[in-house]
Amino acid sequence: MTTPAAGKLAGKVALITGAGSGIGRAMALRFAAAGARVAAAGRTPASIEETVARIRAQTGQDALAVAADVAVPADVERMVRETVARFGRIDILCNNAGIGSSKDVVAVEPEEWDHVFAVNVRDVYLGCKYALPHMLAQGSGAIINTASVLGLVGAPERAAYCASKGAVVALTRQIAVEYAHRGIRCNCLCPTTVDTPWVSRLLADAPDPAARRRALEERQPMGRLATAEEVAAAAVYLASDEAAFVTGTALVIDGGMTAR
Ligand SMILES: NC(=O)c1ccc[n+]([C@@H]2O[C@H](COP(=O)([O-])OP(=O)(O)OC[C@H]3O[C@@H](n4cnc5c(N)ncnc54)[C@H](O)[C@@H]3O)[C@@H](O)[C@H]2O)c1
Repeated sequence: MTTPAAGKLAGKVALITGAGSGIGRAMALRFAAAGARVAAAGRTPASIEETVARIRAQTGQDALAVAADVAVPADVERMVRETVARFGRIDILCNNAGIGSSKDVVAVEPEEWDHVFAVNVRDVYLGCKYALPHMLAQGSGAIINTASVLGLVGAPERAAYCASKGAVVALTRQIAVEYAHRGIRCNCLCPTTVDTPWVSRLLADAPDPAARRRALEERQPMGRLATAEEVAAAAVYLASDEAAFVTGTALVIDGGMTAR
Protein backbone atom coordinates (compact mmCIF):
# COMPACT_ATOMS: atom_id res chain seq x y z
CA MET A 1 0.00 0.00 0.00
CA THR A 2 1.34 3.48 -0.90
CA THR A 3 1.35 6.55 1.35
CA PRO A 4 -0.83 8.97 -0.62
CA ALA A 5 -0.49 11.88 1.81
CA ALA A 6 3.16 12.30 0.75
CA GLY A 7 2.47 12.26 -3.00
CA LYS A 8 2.77 14.93 -5.68
CA LEU A 9 -1.02 15.35 -5.79
CA ALA A 10 -1.64 15.27 -2.04
CA GLY A 11 -4.80 17.15 -1.06
CA LYS A 12 -6.04 17.49 -4.64
CA VAL A 13 -9.33 16.22 -6.03
CA ALA A 14 -9.28 14.77 -9.56
CA LEU A 15 -12.19 13.93 -11.86
CA ILE A 16 -11.24 11.58 -14.71
CA THR A 17 -13.52 10.53 -17.56
CA GLY A 18 -13.16 7.20 -19.34
CA ALA A 19 -11.72 5.91 -16.05
CA GLY A 20 -13.01 2.35 -16.46
CA SER A 21 -10.39 1.30 -19.00
CA GLY A 22 -7.01 1.94 -20.59
CA ILE A 23 -5.45 5.37 -20.13
CA GLY A 24 -8.23 6.68 -17.87
CA ARG A 25 -7.91 3.76 -15.44
CA ALA A 26 -4.11 4.15 -15.40
CA MET A 27 -4.57 7.86 -14.64
CA ALA A 28 -7.03 7.10 -11.82
CA LEU A 29 -4.62 4.62 -10.19
CA ARG A 30 -1.56 6.86 -10.59
CA PHE A 31 -3.38 9.96 -9.36
CA ALA A 32 -4.60 8.08 -6.29
CA ALA A 33 -1.09 6.73 -5.65
CA ALA A 34 0.17 10.33 -5.87
CA GLY A 35 -2.26 11.36 -3.12
CA ALA A 36 -5.29 12.66 -5.04
CA ARG A 37 -8.85 11.85 -4.14
CA VAL A 38 -10.31 10.49 -7.35
CA ALA A 39 -13.72 10.58 -9.00
CA ALA A 40 -13.73 7.93 -11.72
CA ALA A 41 -16.33 8.67 -14.41
CA GLY A 42 -17.39 6.46 -17.28
CA ARG A 43 -20.22 4.87 -19.15
CA THR A 44 -19.98 1.35 -17.78
CA PRO A 45 -20.75 1.14 -14.03
CA ALA A 46 -18.96 -2.22 -13.51
CA SER A 47 -15.73 -0.88 -15.06
CA ILE A 48 -15.55 2.29 -13.00
CA GLU A 49 -16.48 0.34 -9.84
CA GLU A 50 -13.54 -1.95 -10.63
CA THR A 51 -11.23 1.08 -10.92
CA VAL A 52 -12.50 2.36 -7.57
CA ALA A 53 -11.99 -1.07 -5.97
CA ARG A 54 -8.38 -1.10 -7.23
CA ILE A 55 -7.78 2.38 -5.81
CA ARG A 56 -9.10 1.25 -2.42
CA ALA A 57 -6.91 -1.87 -2.49
CA GLN A 58 -3.84 0.07 -3.65
CA THR A 59 -4.02 3.13 -1.39
CA GLY A 60 -6.64 2.47 1.28
CA GLN A 61 -8.22 5.74 0.10
CA ASP A 62 -11.86 6.00 -0.82
CA ALA A 63 -12.78 7.03 -4.37
CA LEU A 64 -16.00 7.88 -6.16
CA ALA A 65 -17.48 6.09 -9.16
CA VAL A 66 -19.73 8.30 -11.31
CA ALA A 67 -21.70 6.67 -14.11
CA ALA A 68 -21.86 9.26 -16.89
CA ASP A 69 -22.11 9.28 -20.66
CA VAL A 70 -20.01 12.27 -21.71
CA ALA A 71 -22.03 12.57 -24.92
CA VAL A 72 -24.98 13.63 -22.73
CA PRO A 73 -24.62 17.23 -21.47
CA ALA A 74 -26.73 16.62 -18.34
CA ASP A 75 -24.44 13.70 -17.38
CA VAL A 76 -21.35 15.90 -17.64
CA GLU A 77 -22.96 18.56 -15.44
CA ARG A 78 -23.99 15.90 -12.88
CA MET A 79 -20.55 14.27 -12.91
CA VAL A 80 -18.93 17.55 -11.85
CA ARG A 81 -21.68 18.26 -9.33
CA GLU A 82 -21.34 14.81 -7.69
CA THR A 83 -17.55 15.20 -7.47
CA VAL A 84 -17.82 18.56 -5.72
CA ALA A 85 -20.64 17.29 -3.46
CA ARG A 86 -18.47 14.37 -2.34
CA PHE A 87 -15.05 16.00 -2.03
CA GLY A 88 -15.88 19.72 -1.62
CA ARG A 89 -13.72 20.91 -4.53
CA ILE A 90 -12.25 19.99 -7.89
CA ASP A 91 -8.57 20.62 -8.62
CA ILE A 92 -7.92 18.42 -11.64
CA LEU A 93 -10.19 17.57 -14.57
CA CYS A 94 -9.02 14.93 -17.03
CA ASN A 95 -11.23 14.96 -20.10
CA ASN A 96 -10.02 11.58 -21.29
CA ALA A 97 -13.00 9.60 -22.65
CA GLY A 98 -12.91 9.19 -26.39
CA ILE A 99 -13.89 7.01 -29.32
CA GLY A 100 -12.28 6.15 -32.63
CA SER A 101 -13.49 6.37 -36.21
CA SER A 102 -11.74 4.51 -39.01
CA LYS A 103 -13.09 6.09 -42.18
CA ASP A 104 -11.91 8.53 -44.80
CA VAL A 105 -13.75 11.78 -45.41
CA VAL A 106 -15.82 10.30 -48.26
CA ALA A 107 -16.96 7.25 -46.33
CA VAL A 108 -17.76 8.85 -42.99
CA GLU A 109 -21.44 9.73 -42.61
CA PRO A 110 -22.65 12.90 -40.87
CA GLU A 111 -24.15 10.90 -37.96
CA GLU A 112 -20.81 9.24 -37.19
CA TRP A 113 -18.94 12.54 -37.60
CA ASP A 114 -21.30 14.25 -35.15
CA HIS A 115 -21.08 11.41 -32.61
CA VAL A 116 -17.26 11.43 -32.72
CA PHE A 117 -17.30 15.18 -32.11
CA ALA A 118 -19.86 14.80 -29.29
CA VAL A 119 -17.69 12.27 -27.43
CA ASN A 120 -14.22 13.61 -28.30
CA VAL A 121 -14.70 17.40 -28.38
CA ARG A 122 -18.05 18.52 -26.99
CA ASP A 123 -17.37 16.61 -23.76
CA VAL A 124 -14.16 18.60 -23.30
CA TYR A 125 -16.07 21.85 -23.73
CA LEU A 126 -18.81 20.66 -21.34
CA GLY A 127 -16.40 19.32 -18.71
CA CYS A 128 -14.62 22.68 -18.69
CA LYS A 129 -17.90 24.60 -18.74
CA TYR A 130 -19.09 22.92 -15.54
CA ALA A 131 -15.76 22.49 -13.69
CA LEU A 132 -14.26 25.92 -14.37
CA PRO A 133 -16.66 27.91 -12.14
CA HIS A 134 -15.52 25.79 -9.17
CA MET A 135 -11.83 26.12 -10.14
CA LEU A 136 -12.19 29.88 -10.63
CA ALA A 137 -13.84 30.22 -7.21
CA GLN A 138 -10.90 28.27 -5.72
CA GLY A 139 -8.39 30.36 -7.73
CA SER A 140 -6.66 27.24 -9.03
CA GLY A 141 -7.15 24.23 -11.24
CA ALA A 142 -5.49 22.00 -13.81
CA ILE A 143 -7.29 20.65 -16.86
CA ILE A 144 -5.75 17.83 -18.88
CA ASN A 145 -7.36 16.78 -22.13
CA THR A 146 -6.45 13.53 -23.86
CA ALA A 147 -5.90 14.50 -27.50
CA SER A 148 -3.61 12.39 -29.75
CA VAL A 149 -0.67 12.74 -32.13
CA LEU A 150 -3.47 12.52 -34.71
CA GLY A 151 -4.52 15.99 -33.57
CA LEU A 152 -1.14 17.19 -34.88
CA VAL A 153 -0.49 15.02 -37.96
CA GLY A 154 -2.76 13.30 -40.45
CA ALA A 155 -3.36 9.57 -40.89
CA PRO A 156 -5.33 7.68 -43.57
CA GLU A 157 -8.91 6.65 -42.75
CA ARG A 158 -9.13 8.78 -39.63
CA ALA A 159 -10.99 11.88 -40.93
CA ALA A 160 -13.37 12.50 -38.02
CA TYR A 161 -10.86 11.31 -35.42
CA CYS A 162 -8.01 13.56 -36.62
CA ALA A 163 -10.34 16.55 -36.90
CA SER A 164 -11.78 15.94 -33.42
CA LYS A 165 -8.36 15.63 -31.76
CA GLY A 166 -7.12 18.73 -33.60
CA ALA A 167 -10.10 20.55 -32.11
CA VAL A 168 -9.12 19.32 -28.63
CA VAL A 169 -5.61 20.75 -29.11
CA ALA A 170 -7.09 24.09 -30.24
CA LEU A 171 -9.60 24.27 -27.37
CA THR A 172 -6.81 23.43 -24.91
CA ARG A 173 -4.82 26.43 -26.12
CA GLN A 174 -7.86 28.72 -26.04
CA ILE A 175 -8.74 27.78 -22.44
CA ALA A 176 -5.08 28.12 -21.40
CA VAL A 177 -4.92 31.67 -22.73
CA GLU A 178 -8.34 32.69 -21.39
CA TYR A 179 -7.73 31.61 -17.78
CA ALA A 180 -3.93 31.80 -17.35
CA HIS A 181 -4.14 34.89 -15.16
CA ARG A 182 -6.76 33.30 -12.89
CA GLY A 183 -4.79 30.31 -11.67
CA ILE A 184 -6.05 27.75 -14.17
CA ARG A 185 -3.72 25.67 -16.35
CA CYS A 186 -4.97 23.68 -19.34
CA ASN A 187 -2.81 21.21 -21.26
CA CYS A 188 -3.35 18.22 -23.49
CA LEU A 189 -1.68 14.88 -24.05
CA CYS A 190 -0.80 13.73 -27.56
CA PRO A 191 0.09 10.04 -27.40
CA THR A 192 0.80 7.81 -30.35
CA THR A 193 -0.86 4.36 -30.31
CA VAL A 194 -1.22 3.22 -26.71
CA ASP A 195 -1.48 -0.46 -25.78
CA THR A 196 -4.99 -0.40 -24.29
CA PRO A 197 -8.22 -2.37 -24.84
CA TRP A 198 -8.84 0.16 -27.64
CA VAL A 199 -5.89 -1.25 -29.60
CA SER A 200 -6.86 -4.84 -28.77
CA ARG A 201 -10.22 -4.14 -30.47
CA LEU A 202 -8.48 -2.55 -33.46
CA LEU A 203 -6.18 -5.56 -33.85
CA ALA A 204 -9.02 -8.06 -33.43
CA ASP A 205 -10.70 -6.48 -36.46
CA ALA A 206 -7.56 -6.68 -38.64
CA PRO A 207 -7.17 -9.50 -41.21
CA ASP A 208 -3.64 -10.21 -39.83
CA PRO A 209 -3.48 -8.87 -36.25
CA ALA A 210 0.25 -9.64 -35.77
CA ALA A 211 1.21 -7.81 -38.98
CA ARG A 212 -1.05 -4.89 -38.04
CA ARG A 213 0.58 -4.69 -34.62
CA ARG A 214 4.08 -4.70 -36.15
CA ALA A 215 3.05 -1.92 -38.54
CA LEU A 216 1.74 0.16 -35.63
CA GLU A 217 4.94 -0.45 -33.65
CA GLU A 218 7.20 0.49 -36.56
CA ARG A 219 5.63 3.95 -36.78
CA GLN A 220 7.64 4.85 -33.68
CA PRO A 221 11.45 5.12 -33.89
CA MET A 222 11.44 3.38 -30.49
CA GLY A 223 9.79 0.40 -32.22
CA ARG A 224 6.94 -0.18 -29.76
CA LEU A 225 3.59 1.18 -28.61
CA ALA A 226 3.15 3.50 -25.64
CA THR A 227 1.81 2.08 -22.39
CA ALA A 228 -1.15 3.55 -20.54
CA GLU A 229 1.15 4.04 -17.53
CA GLU A 230 3.52 6.22 -19.57
CA VAL A 231 0.64 8.47 -20.57
CA ALA A 232 -0.68 8.55 -17.00
CA ALA A 233 2.78 9.54 -15.69
CA ALA A 234 2.74 12.56 -18.01
CA ALA A 235 -0.73 13.43 -16.71
CA VAL A 236 0.49 13.33 -13.10
CA TYR A 237 3.25 15.78 -14.04
CA LEU A 238 0.84 18.17 -15.79
CA ALA A 239 -1.60 17.95 -12.86
CA SER A 240 1.09 18.60 -10.25
CA ASP A 241 2.59 21.85 -8.99
CA GLU A 242 5.84 20.83 -10.72
CA ALA A 243 4.14 21.98 -13.94
CA ALA A 244 3.17 25.34 -12.40
CA PHE A 245 4.41 27.33 -15.44
CA VAL A 246 3.19 24.86 -18.08
CA THR A 247 -0.06 25.76 -19.81
CA GLY A 248 -1.41 25.51 -23.34
CA THR A 249 1.00 22.74 -24.27
CA ALA A 250 0.30 19.69 -26.40
CA LEU A 251 2.61 17.17 -24.75
CA VAL A 252 3.69 14.61 -27.33
CA ILE A 253 4.26 11.07 -26.00
CA ASP A 254 5.13 9.19 -29.14
CA GLY A 255 8.47 7.37 -28.99
CA GLY A 256 9.76 9.82 -31.60
CA MET A 257 6.98 9.26 -34.16
CA THR A 258 6.46 12.94 -35.02
CA ALA A 259 10.18 13.77 -34.78
CA ARG A 260 11.10 12.17 -38.08
N1 LIG B 1 -5.20 3.86 -27.34
C1 LIG B 1 -4.64 4.68 -28.23
O1 LIG B 1 -3.93 4.26 -29.15
C2 LIG B 1 -4.82 6.17 -28.10
C3 LIG B 1 -3.89 7.02 -28.74
C4 LIG B 1 -4.04 8.39 -28.62
C5 LIG B 1 -5.10 8.91 -27.91
N2 LIG B 1 -6.00 8.07 -27.32
C6 LIG B 1 -7.10 8.67 -26.57
O2 LIG B 1 -7.03 8.25 -25.24
C7 LIG B 1 -8.33 8.27 -24.66
C8 LIG B 1 -8.57 6.98 -23.92
O3 LIG B 1 -8.43 5.91 -24.82
P1 LIG B 1 -8.01 4.42 -24.38
O4 LIG B 1 -6.95 3.97 -25.29
O5 LIG B 1 -7.80 4.36 -22.92
O6 LIG B 1 -9.34 3.65 -24.81
P2 LIG B 1 -10.31 2.65 -24.04
O7 LIG B 1 -11.33 2.27 -25.06
O8 LIG B 1 -9.52 1.60 -23.35
O9 LIG B 1 -10.96 3.59 -22.94
C9 LIG B 1 -11.81 4.63 -23.30
C10 LIG B 1 -12.78 4.82 -22.18
O10 LIG B 1 -13.68 5.88 -22.52
C11 LIG B 1 -14.97 5.45 -22.22
N3 LIG B 1 -15.96 6.12 -23.04
C12 LIG B 1 -16.13 6.04 -24.39
N4 LIG B 1 -17.21 6.75 -24.75
C13 LIG B 1 -17.71 7.29 -23.60
C14 LIG B 1 -18.81 8.12 -23.33
N5 LIG B 1 -19.65 8.52 -24.29
N6 LIG B 1 -19.04 8.48 -22.04
C15 LIG B 1 -18.23 8.07 -21.06
N7 LIG B 1 -17.18 7.28 -21.26
C16 LIG B 1 -16.92 6.89 -22.53
C17 LIG B 1 -14.99 3.96 -22.49
O11 LIG B 1 -16.06 3.32 -21.82
C18 LIG B 1 -13.62 3.57 -21.94
O12 LIG B 1 -13.68 3.30 -20.56
C19 LIG B 1 -9.30 8.54 -25.81
O13 LIG B 1 -9.66 9.92 -25.79
C20 LIG B 1 -8.46 8.26 -27.05
O14 LIG B 1 -8.88 8.99 -28.15
C21 LIG B 1 -5.88 6.71 -27.38
